[in-house]
Amino acid sequence: MTIKWYPGHMSKAREQIKELLRKIDVIIEVLDARLPYSSSNHLLEELRRDKPCIKVLNKNDLADPVVTQLWVNHFQKTSGVRALPLSAKHLPQVKQVVKVCKNLVPNRGNNPGYPIRAMVCGIPNVGKSTLINTLAGKSIAKVGDKPAITVTTQQIDLRNGILIFDTPGILWPVMSNQTGAYRLATSGAIGANALDYTNVGMFAVEFMMRRYPELLKERYRLAELPEAPHESIEAIGRCLGCLVSGGVVDVNRAAEAFLRELRAAKIGRVSFEEPATAAVQDPNLLLSSTLEF
Ligand code: G4P
Repeated sequence: MTIKWYPGHMSKAREQIKELLRKIDVIIEVLDARLPYSSSNHLLEELRRDKPCIKVLNKNDLADPVVTQLWVNHFQKTSGVRALPLSAKHLPQVKQVVKVCKNLVPNRGNNPGYPIRAMVCGIPNVGKSTLINTLAGKSIAKVGDKPAITVTTQQIDLRNGILIFDTPGILWPVMSNQTGAYRLATSGAIGANALDYTNVGMFAVEFMMRRYPELLKERYRLAELPEAPHESIEAIGRCLGCLVSGGVVDVNRAAEAFLRELRAAKIGRVSFEEPATAAVQDPNLLLSSTLEF
């Protein structure tokens, strides 16, 4: 999916979210657990003021659990913020969102007519729709034959003291930080049209060589990792059978196949950034990630 944001879209989204924030009690901000910094938009923090906020670290099934715990500790330092790692496809985990909403907004949600009003927001592809569907849809089964949800034009009544907006607030990914943009492309949150597979694959393999070398060796049956990222991509391409005539590796195809595996956690559960260093842009990394070969 390729989504283009123009200044007009951004200011419209800003106004819409500002307007919505007036009507709600709690923000459910969906982030990708593998890159909670790069998949966020600081606009929300700016507009939030002291509104309670749940940072859902979604796709936790794909992220490195040790790093996710660092992010939870990091976010919990902010007043009014709770961080919740989960998989939006997993109903028992998603139910935690309801529990945390009630903790954050204790004065509402108990009496009819005073539900907790919640808004789900985040950049594209982080799993907002999946979360809303799991929150709304699957709870129907729990209540038996009585419909558990009421869809109005704007909100879904979960019938447990919580009303959620049925359309998520969509924020734009911040592309000005190039390292963040590459991480977003690595995760699949932004299309490969903007950044081609070879460049993104090079960035990703270089990161993996530095941060998770053992996972790479194991997955691609490599006794040792080559020194240079392009050699690693070639070795991975050979392992995955991305060859053209003469046994030469098709690098673009190899990079694409590698990214597909990485995104699906076939190589292992991986996080692309940690709280202490997430905002740092690495110029060396960028230089080699734009290598042509
Ligand atoms: P959005 O509304 O924020 O744009 O995101 P959406 O729910 O459409 O989810 C984007 C993709 O992320 C979907 O995959 C969805 O299945 C996947 N996803 C959402 N939550 C999780 C999660 O907790 N774990 C994992 N592993 N994936 C998750 P897709 O390939 O685009 O669609 P589909 O083929 O799964 O339907």
